[in-house]
Amino acid sequence: MEQRILGSGLRAGAVVMGCMRLTDAKVPVDRVLGTALELGINMFDHADIYGGGRCEELFGKWLSETPSLRDRIVLQTKCGIRRGFYDFSKEHILSSVEGSLRRLRTDHVDVLLLHRPDTLMEPEEVASAFDELESSGKVRFFGVSNHSPMQIELLRTAVKQPIVADQLQFSVPESGLVTSGLNVNMKNDESVMHDGGALEYMRINGITIQAWSPFQGGFFKGPFVGDREKYSALNDRLDELGLKYGVSPTAVAAAWILRHPAGMQLISGSVNPERMREVVSGAGITLTREDWYSVYLAAGFRLP
Ligand SMILES: NC(=O)c1ccc[n+]([C@@H]2O[C@H](COP(=O)([O-])OP(=O)(O)OC[C@H]3O[C@@H](n4cnc5c(N)ncnc54)[C@H](OP(=O)(O)O)[C@@H]3O)[C@@H](O)[C@H]2O)c1
Repeated sequence: MEQRILGSGLRAGAVVMGCMRLTDAKVPVDRVLGTALELGINMFDHADIYGGGRCEELFGKWLSETPSLRDRIVLQTKCGIRRGFYDFSKEHILSSVEGSLRRLRTDHVDVLLLHRPDTLMEPEEVASAFDELESSGKVRFFGVSNHSPMQIELLRTAVKQPIVADQLQFSVPESGLVTSGLNVNMKNDESVMHDGGALEYMRINGITIQAWSPFQGGFFKGPFVGDREKYSALNDRLDELGLKYGVSPTAVAAAWILRHPAGMQLISGSVNPERMREVVSGAGITLTREDWYSVYLAAGFRLP
């Protein structure tokens, strides 16, 4: 599988296994995770809150059964979301990481992301937490999730480690990352910039965008692939391109994200081995420029 380089040299595959839905698996978890490895997936995305900690626990149990795997995979987790509030205090960041390490049954995570911006955040406190986690060897690289460019700049006033990734929602129907840039200065709704120029900022600063919910329409509103009621023209186009490239419509939707020259990672949430196979096959094709735009238009967006 095509690899991405995060920060100063952390290599990881373009398709990452998102572990948020691990507790929903209809087949044993070791089969799901074993399939991921077999498909060439070498990075796994967690958060302290997924399944109330259960997703990390299930993963940690699997990992403990083959400890030699630890050095061959890239383990990422997140912290900062609490029940009813966000918390980037030093105390919470440190205790959250301790909890993740215990559940994942490892002594370090490769990447730690701040999950959602905490407006009460003090950059110096985050910096102090990151320094402690780095010097103790508990975290190798740091990043953010759902952060705007200016929020990253604010963190950078105190944090000295490079921010290697920003995890943001991105899928064909939820393509805000590209729509405003395609409608600059136009008097239409699509020109409204909701993210402060995140796409360009991440590219300029070498921060890897990790696309979450790559197959969902809306905020966890269900997959758009196969939903002909809401996304009829889009599904027609995905079907046509599936035939053209010899892959499934799901693979075309994955290829659409991976085709962007920003070099994004796709965080896939499927826990179904067959679907995981389809998603990864999307990493094996490259859509032409014309086909890429045709998918965008079929989702109902316009080009001025
Ligand atoms: N940073 C954040 O704020 C944030 C937010 C949300 C998620 N995430 C991360 O991103 C990962 C992915 O999120 P997600 O699970 O919402 O993403 P997703 O890959 O878009 O959605 C996966 C879900 O859609 C289902 N699905 C049904 N039909 C599908 C099809 N044709 N193609 C693909 N999936 C289909 C899957 O079922 P099957 O299992 O049966 O395939 C699974 O339940 C999470 O695991 C998590 O790691 C991060």
